[in-house]
Amino acid sequence: MSKPVKTIGILTGGGDCPGLNAVIRAVVKAAMIRYGWTVLGIPDGYDGLIWPEKIRPLGAGDISGILVRGGTILGTSNRGNPFAYPMRENGQTVVKDVSPLLLANLAKIGLDALVVVGGDGTQKIALELFRRGAQVVGVPKTIDNDLSATEVTFGFDTALRTATDAIDKLHTTAESHHRIMVVEVMGRDAGWIALQSGIAGGADVILIPEVPFSLEKICDKIEQRAAAGRHFSIIVVAEGCRTIDGHPLFPFSEERRNTPRPGTVANALGALVGRHAGRETRVTVLGHIQRGGSPSPFDRVLGSRFGAAAVDLVARGEFGRMVCLQSGSIQSTPLEEAVGVLKTVDPNGQFVGTARSLGVSFGD
Ligand code: F6P
Repeated sequence: MSKPVKTIGILTGGGDCPGLNAVIRAVVKAAMIRYGWTVLGIPDGYDGLIWPEKIRPLGAGDISGILVRGGTILGTSNRGNPFAYPMRENGQTVVKDVSPLLLANLAKIGLDALVVVGGDGTQKIALELFRRGAQVVGVPKTIDNDLSATEVTFGFDTALRTATDAIDKLHTTAESHHRIMVVEVMGRDAGWIALQSGIAGGADVILIPEVPFSLEKICDKIEQRAAAGRHFSIIVVAEGCRTIDGHPLFPFSEERRNTPRPGTVANALGALVGRHAGRETRVTVLGHIQRGGSPSPFDRVLGSRFGAAAVDLVARGEFGRMVCLQSGSIQSTPLEEAVGVLKTVDPNGQFVGTARSLGVSFGD
């Protein structure tokens, strides 16, 4: 039996993303207007529940004007996993399970339910908290659009616009100077941003983690274009792309083992392509620009729909679930089915097929 709800908390975890504030606004509005609940804002992801001093009530004044703002008014963190939390003790870093403290704080603060907005890592933690008795619902978020439970995540559309806009602008210099322009976009495990911005921006080569590439094939494409009188090429590369022999082009970072640092991949690739193709090559790294800026109308609407639906899930006592978009309609799915399975690009699927029909090379 779930407890009756009067007060709910909301936190945003993982990398920031356009549309987070739309979710926060919708949660606060729906909770107040439809149910008369109090909403507490938890700062900096799960950290805010480990150190609860900065938790604050969110009222109409706090959410006024935030719909158009990027980032998250609550702050976020992509490091604070309470089940493996690094702490300094006697001058040394020790990793501890601080989840009992977090769960105790939930009760101490008087939170009847918790709305967790975040990507796969954040939702995995939400699931573990739910298994330990917390009344949790999830809202999926990532610019990478790689969560399998939902057709699309908010933030992706805005990131796609940013990347496409950059490719459009880079075309000018590519064409005027007869250059190879390499543009790196985000996408650690999935190439959705690279693939769709590449198609939208008319890229000649698109490199994604799902389709390993060889340098020779990229250079072949550049030469074919030159032979046809097109002395410039645009290469869109996802940060997680891999060579045909299986190597990522980035060294593992110390901070988060699997995360490439922006620029590593494009700079390595740009140097290789420039040398092998014997053509002037320039590199542009979009990095965190893709995570910033005002959310697109689509992301504002999706974030608002997700936020309001998450509050309805709480009201119905449907905990341990995550809202999602399926066939254009807002649904929900159990967290345990939603986490751990990434939605990657199908190398034999329609998007890649369309790009190939347009003459795009994947370097394979
Ligand atoms: O998950 C979104 C994402 O933008 C990835 O594509 C990227 O690798 C990562 O976040 C970068 O995160 P950080 O903010 O830690 O550099």
